[in-house]
Amino acid sequence: MKLYDLRVNHLCNPLGYEMRKTTFSWKIKEALGKRQAAARIRIGEKENLDAGNLLADTGFLENLSSVASTIDVPLMPCKRYFWDVTVQTELGEEATSNVQWFETGKMDKEWNAEWISCDSRQKRHPIFQKKIDLKGSVKKARLYICGLGLYEAFYGDERIGEEYLTPYCNDYNEWIQYQTYDVTEMLRKDGILSVLLGNGWYKGRFGFDNPSESGYYGNEWKLKAELDIEYEDGSEDIIGTDESWRVKRSKLIFSEIYDGEHRDDTLPEVPVEAAVICEQPKGKLTARYSTPVTVHEQLKPTKLVLTPRGETVLDLGQEFTGIFSLRVKEPKGTKIHIQTGEILQNDNFYRDNLRTAKSEYIYISDGKEKVIYPHFTFYGYRYVKIEGMTHLKKEDFTGLALYSEIPETGNIETRNPLVNQLISNIRWGMKSNFLDVPTDCPQRDERMGWTGDAQIFSAAATYLADTYSFYKKYLYDMACEQKVRDGKVPQVIPNFGKEGTSSVWGDAACIIPWNLYLFYGDQAILEEQFDSMRSWVDYIHRMDQENHCWREEFHYGDWLALDHPTGGENGFMGGTDERFIADVSYAVSAGIVKKAAHILGRKREETEYEAIEKSQYDWIKKEYYTQTGKCCIRTQTAQLLTLKYHLSENEDEARKMLRILLDESDGKLKTGFVGTPLLCKVLSENEMDDLAYELFLNEEFPGWLNEVKLGATTIWERWNSLDENGCISGTQMNSLNHYAAGAVAEWIFRYVVGINMDETDFSAAGFRKMSFTPRLKQSLGYAKGSYESAMGRYSCAWEFQDDTHVKISVSVPFGANARLILPEAGESVFNDKKNPMFRDVKDGVCYLTAGEYTVEYSVEKKTAAYDIDTSMRKLLEHVAVREFIGSLIPLETLPKEFMPISFRKLAVQFGSAEDEQLEQINEVLKTFR
Ligand code: BGC
Repeated sequence: MKLYDLRVNHLCNPLGYEMRKTTFSWKIKEALGKRQAAARIRIGEKENLDAGNLLADTGFLENLSSVASTIDVPLMPCKRYFWDVTVQTELGEEATSNVQWFETGKMDKEWNAEWISCDSRQKRHPIFQKKIDLKGSVKKARLYICGLGLYEAFYGDERIGEEYLTPYCNDYNEWIQYQTYDVTEMLRKDGILSVLLGNGWYKGRFGFDNPSESGYYGNEWKLKAELDIEYEDGSEDIIGTDESWRVKRSKLIFSEIYDGEHRDDTLPEVPVEAAVICEQPKGKLTARYSTPVTVHEQLKPTKLVLTPRGETVLDLGQEFTGIFSLRVKEPKGTKIHIQTGEILQNDNFYRDNLRTAKSEYIYISDGKEKVIYPHFTFYGYRYVKIEGMTHLKKEDFTGLALYSEIPETGNIETRNPLVNQLISNIRWGMKSNFLDVPTDCPQRDERMGWTGDAQIFSAAATYLADTYSFYKKYLYDMACEQKVRDGKVPQVIPNFGKEGTSSVWGDAACIIPWNLYLFYGDQAILEEQFDSMRSWVDYIHRMDQENHCWREEFHYGDWLALDHPTGGENGFMGGTDERFIADVSYAVSAGIVKKAAHILGRKREETEYEAIEKSQYDWIKKEYYTQTGKCCIRTQTAQLLTLKYHLSENEDEARKMLRILLDESDGKLKTGFVGTPLLCKVLSENEMDDLAYELFLNEEFPGWLNEVKLGATTIWERWNSLDENGCISGTQMNSLNHYAAGAVAEWIFRYVVGINMDETDFSAAGFRKMSFTPRLKQSLGYAKGSYESAMGRYSCAWEFQDDTHVKISVSVPFGANARLILPEAGESVFNDKKNPMFRDVKDGVCYLTAGEYTVEYSVEKKTAAYDIDTSMRKLLEHVAVREFIGSLIPLETLPKEFMPISFRKLAVQFGSAEDEQLEQINEVLKTFR
């Protein structure tokens, strides 16, 4: 038996993170036992966790949760703590983890450093420097540092740490992060500590509201750093930023997030300046929340293209976010101009959809051979146009994908290559938009933390990767921004002047923490965010007043849906009344606050928000539904909301209406930001997998696979971002790397692969319990996937051996319990009592504990795919069925509006068909698959 994924506050051996409390978690694999009988955590100040050295020892406890166990440790600043965990199983096995550690940041300890600055009007970016003279052999050295806008630190020629774009992006008016680096190994000899500063989000052009050169948060370069050295002889040295630091001017003369970077290596050295003490920035200096942004994939160009226009373009084969490295060896004074783009148009380089973002890099060579990379910008790109290089070889260029630490947790594969490519596109969409902030897109003059996009995609993202710490930082920022806005959640976090809000967008404050709780089972996130969640609902409550005024505000609604009466395919708003969406989201958020209050044992708030939730649902039913439960809004999204939140007493009506609406739209989706994430999920939850698969596997416009067929390598902002000829459909708002529609990955995990999180039973949170609910689709051949949950790894795979035989395998991690609902299985399947899968079966559901299980059986279709009650649209889509129907009635003259109507109704109405005749036709139709 092995212990793995040992974490403190969901982080592996964290150094210098903000730590309000210490919550431990671990996972177990390769055990003979099936569950943890007891566990013991020991915490100490020394790596040797012997009895005499301990700060805490829980002893063996039966209820120490592997998913989250909070243990109070009195924490001191700048100190490393060690811990381990020992687990016993019900069979008496025992294993102890390797010793782990966590180290605090400065906490409330005074800084021995000042904020320093320099002449910030100069173009040449500053390098702040300090000569370090060591007084002996170094035992331990830490650098605590924050530089604004952005910084990169070096000791001698060596870069300190592997992170980019530090100190990261947040609401700098409220808080500013410093990072902690272990520099012990670097300080083997005297050297120069240098810090290069750039403009970034703090002092550069960013957001819609400061197109000028002045920054949204500040205009001055600022640095605060403290190097704490502990020598072997026990003496200490602290070197902090002050007036003794010198300022050298670098060769960087321009850096902007949107516009790129300019570097001129021909610039002469200029005399050094003295650093000046400056005013501290507005926000509170806080230990880091952001997980490291580092280089992950290194992409080599797949092609060097000479375009019809004569441009030299490299194709990296994959759209991603990051920077690049380029080997240059050009004569002195050569100007190299690099621009990035997402796509070629008419085989030429194209970048108009980036709007005002210049997204470029300009380099002037000093004649020496070197490898250059941008420091303080990033690009969302696949294609690079390079001008000015005489001997460019594609090997000289490497794309460097930058994103936050989000370890991969979920995998899916099927026999359909288009589906596999889609999953890859969704994953790249996530990576591209998880650069410290969950952004809408990474390329144009936006790249902002739009709350709506973030919440829509959060469940899908959390299946694909461990997102806990990434979202925790975003949510902390959100809470800070709400505090100064009376609970209002601005539509963009960090805000950058986008003060407006909207339902669905602001509801991120409730939905994301709730998703994190469901996935990770740690109520710490609810404790931390409770005030934020509640204050958002309180804000709506105040806006709503007595007369339901909240819905009368501006709301984005079903953004980018295709069914707006005037908007159409290139419009913005959807066809579902935004007021209805606003009212529903309000109820949903109130319900989440109620549930969170319940989990946190806050009875008073539970009652309070339950009352809001109930009165809101009562109002919705009265306002938008007929007395018999029919939704007054005739759109796909309205029916999806009806079913998802059980808004009608008559759900059959909503199901029927959904079928009619899909038949009317030729079986194609019309949904936007609200409907798309729900679409397949709600259909599967309502036993309408036929439609879910039909929409999902549709290769025509609009649909997920349509994008794949048109060559997408990430997810597009619009269903028609490119038309069928591969031409960009518009430039106003058209990104090829917007993850929102990738929310469908949640459905793929839950119902295609069948690893389905339980949302109703709170004791299941953290995947302690879940359900396997795979839904078979013959044309997919097989689907297999796994999810590395907070409990360990679940997997599920199904494969058709031939037309009727299916093999299903699942695995359940140590300590977990799962229900398995075998798809299309007849009763006889369960009789095989020798198969451990069937040891505990109730009402056709297999109850499983940790282990691996497999079964093979012959599927039993409960209902035929086609019969006389199937809509004409569906019947006519099947080639053979169409032929058969065509032999009965003339199809050429059939009006399009008749498509949602069943064969039976048409046959009775216009063909005066007899019962007996109809029955015969029915039998024939049932034979089609
Ligand atoms: C963004 C979206 C965002 C929207 C607000 C756009 O510019 O790219 O994804 O949610 O504005 O509706």
